[in-house]
Amino acid sequence: QTSEAEVVVFSVPSYACQRRTTLENHNAVLTDALALLAENAELSEEEGRGVAFRRAAAVLKALPRPVTSMTELRGLPCLGDHSLRVIKDILENGASSEAESTKQSERYKALKVLTGIFGVGAKTADRWIREGILGLQQLQESGQTLNRAQQAGLEHYDDLNQPVTKADADVISEIVERAVVSVLPGAQMTLIGGFRRGKLSGHDVDFLITHPEEGREVGLMPKVVSWLESQGFLLYQKTTRNSERSRSGHKLWRAVRVDLVVSPISQFAFALLGWTGSKLFERELRRWAGHERNMSLSSHALYDNKQRIYLRATSEEEIFAHLGLEFIPPSERNT
Ligand code: GTP
Ligand code: MN
Ligand code: MN
Repeated sequence: QTSEAEVVVFSVPSYACQRRTTLENHNAVLTDALALLAENAELSEEEGRGVAFRRAAAVLKALPRPVTSMTELRGLPCLGDHSLRVIKDILENGASSEAESTKQSERYKALKVLTGIFGVGAKTADRWIREGILGLQQLQESGQTLNRAQQAGLEHYDDLNQPVTKADADVISEIVERAVVSVLPGAQMTLIGGFRRGKLSGHDVDFLITHPEEGREVGLMPKVVSWLESQGFLLYQKTTRNSERSRSGHKLWRAVRVDLVVSPISQFAFALLGWTGSKLFERELRRWAGHERNMSLSSHALYDNKQRIYLRATSEEEIFAHLGLEFIPPSERNT
């Protein structure tokens, strides 16, 4: 008697920068739970655990269809015991008890609210929580001294926690573009971050600015910032704010976080690659470079530790080629 079995397995390379990950996610229920646990770990300053959950989620995001049983996960990289337990719980019970209880916990809720204030990181939030401050009102009543960033963050809390849409990003792009060409004709501006990857919303808008002539970009940042300020568009340093309201009471402007990066043209490709994200994709690129190629990648340069030379590049494609990786376009870096 013969027995036959057809086994279908997923095959996924182990570094996220070797994979094409679009915004289409067939396993959102699983990856949402893992992302929540990752976020909780990061907010608790357990970076290693956070990365482990992020890597596990990224593998599931790269699968071409929903996972229905644990056996389909055999042989997949980056799925540690803890992540596998979470996945199993969801497949068997429809939800992860750990993710659910984390989401309901007072500590997680307080960390979310407090780190939602621009300028407040995990350390500060943790200190406040230990002093019994769990929310915005308690913070205001506590008389804690806030720095300028945090004051602006608190003042514009609702605006800054409202997702930025692509339409918002387009409006901001026009304003920043006007600023850039006014202070330095010939300068070029590129949308980076999540919007370059094709996301339809984000927590901020990111721009990279350069000039085709090396050196002309020097001193550009303060000029752009001054221009925006003089036109009434700013600011707390990296934060765009404008509290002007229309007469009907509807908001004409709202505070939006904007990240501006200026790069000399010689480093442009590295800055473009380094600031397009996703964060995990960038982390994986650097890990690949170091562990698999004995190279050091940053958003300024690529250094070959063996040959002891900097490898030049004028495009993202060239950097992938230096690294021995297949080129992955921005829309497929949504890992
Ligand atoms: P949303 O803003 O939520 O849409 O996501 P995003 O992918 O745009 O994330 P974010 O704006 O936080 O970051 C965009 C890119 O900039 C990512 O690739 C980050 O790794 C990178 N980035 C963020 N902060 C820094 C930083 O301080 N230094 C460097 N070198 N890169 C950074
Ligand atoms: Mn962004
Ligand atoms: Mn950003």
